[in-house]
Amino acid sequence: MNKQSIRIAVIDDEKISAIHIQEHLADYGYPVDVFFQAEPFLESYMCSPYELVITDMKLPGIDGMGIIEQVKARHRETEIVVITGYATIDSAIEAIRAGAFHYLTKPIRLEEFSSLISQVIDKIFLRIEADNLRALMMREAGRDGMIGTSKQMVEVFKIIEKVAPLDCPVIIHGQSGTGKELVARAIHRLSPRCDDPIVSLNCGGFSPELIANELFGHEKAAFTGAFKAKKGLLESADKGIVLLDEITEMPWDMQVKLLRVIQEGQIYRIGATRPINIDIRILAASNRNLEEEVKKGKFREDLFFRLNVMTLSLPRLKDRQGDLLLLADHFLQKFSQAYNKKISGFSAKARDALAKYDYPGNVRELENIIARCVALTESDRIGESDLPPCLACDPPSLTNPLKSLKELEKDHIVKVLLAVDGQREQAARVLGVTRSTLWRKIKKLGLKI
Ligand SMILES: Nc1ncnc2c1ncn2[C@@H]1O[C@H](COP(=O)(O)OP(=O)(O)OP(=O)(O)O)[C@@H](O)[C@H]1O
Ligand SMILES: [Mg+2]
Repeated sequence: MNKQSIRIAVIDDEKISAIHIQEHLADYGYPVDVFFQAEPFLESYMCSPYELVITDMKLPGIDGMGIIEQVKARHRETEIVVITGYATIDSAIEAIRAGAFHYLTKPIRLEEFSSLISQVIDKIFLRIEADNLRALMMREAGRDGMIGTSKQMVEVFKIIEKVAPLDCPVIIHGQSGTGKELVARAIHRLSPRCDDPIVSLNCGGFSPELIANELFGHEKAAFTGAFKAKKGLLESADKGIVLLDEITEMPWDMQVKLLRVIQEGQIYRIGATRPINIDIRILAASNRNLEEEVKKGKFREDLFFRLNVMTLSLPRLKDRQGDLLLLADHFLQKFSQAYNKKISGFSAKARDALAKYDYPGNVRELENIIARCVALTESDRIGESDLPPCLACDPPSLTNPLKSLKELEKDHIVKVLLAVDGQREQAARVLGVTRSTLWRKIKKLGLKI
């Protein structure tokens, strides 16, 4: 922080006195704007507040008390020092009650002036430092524990901070496991809607009827089995944020309904005749490119245009090597604590292997790998042998012999299962086999995942 960043204004109708103060502060390196009346000062102050205001109490037009009132109403943090004659000392005390820092009596004695000004400037510096620290902490908290110092992630954090306060939709795009949900939560935390809920719905894997019920809720007796009225997700998120995950999986008819909700700010519960007003911000996550889905005719163009105010793309983990070991250390700490183990770090070979791997499942896969290592290791340091087989990428040697097809199959199944967070249905899809085939193989190969 430098002296130039402290803006000081002096208001005194005695021109010589004002200029004297200005010159004295300039000697200390502080830039000062001088005003001989309150009105032009207030005009300037309303556009851009000063950190310190030194004002005479007696002024033609608006006086010192008027200045204090307007300054404090605009920006409570501004410090004010008043200058007064002995005859009007009562008004100086009144000024302090109204929020002024202190007063000086005329004629001003240089020593007294310098000591008071250095006290008030110290206070201003402390306040600015505290503000900066608070802003930094807010940002860190807003990141919801998101780790990353790579160029790409710093850019992502910057965009999050920029878009969070704006009340616009955001499309969060990135491969599975890159942190889309985390980004949505960070936007929520830094947004004006942070005190209201964020609710999320995974649009994949539901029939249109089920999604409608989830989103809009229903009235009592709207359909067989609707014994009670039920609030939908959009209604529960009123004033807050709705995260529509895997938005491209949303059935076509539902896309039309969602567009109507966004345009009209109203929903109808299933079976209702009256609309309910809702005020929500929508965040949409997808691992597919929405624009391409529109071109393929799978996603409605009108809905895309409504949502596409801002797109935030998350990089793959393998494209941000700089973050990889940072994340590995972070997860090591997290799981050591969770499993109550004392593990000091990774061996050099384990670090190498971690750094070389591709991570098709991105951060989630790395997180799962580290969780597994911490759970299984018997040492106080994660070694190469603690890593899952898919990371053993060294060329064949006596200690690392060529593998049989069966072993390769086993390694590959483990790798896919780790990448999809152990979800067997998804793993079967990736491997191109049915769920029951995968289940048989897991059993036959004796896998404990
Ligand atoms: N930058 C990061 N720092 C710390 N943890 C992260 C980071 N990115 C992702 N994670 C962790 O990785 C896991 C996956 O993140 P998240 O659920 O947000 O991904 P996603 O993109 O929504 O995945 P999916 O498409 O499968 O839903 C979570 O446990 C999350 O905490
Ligand atoms: Mg997600």
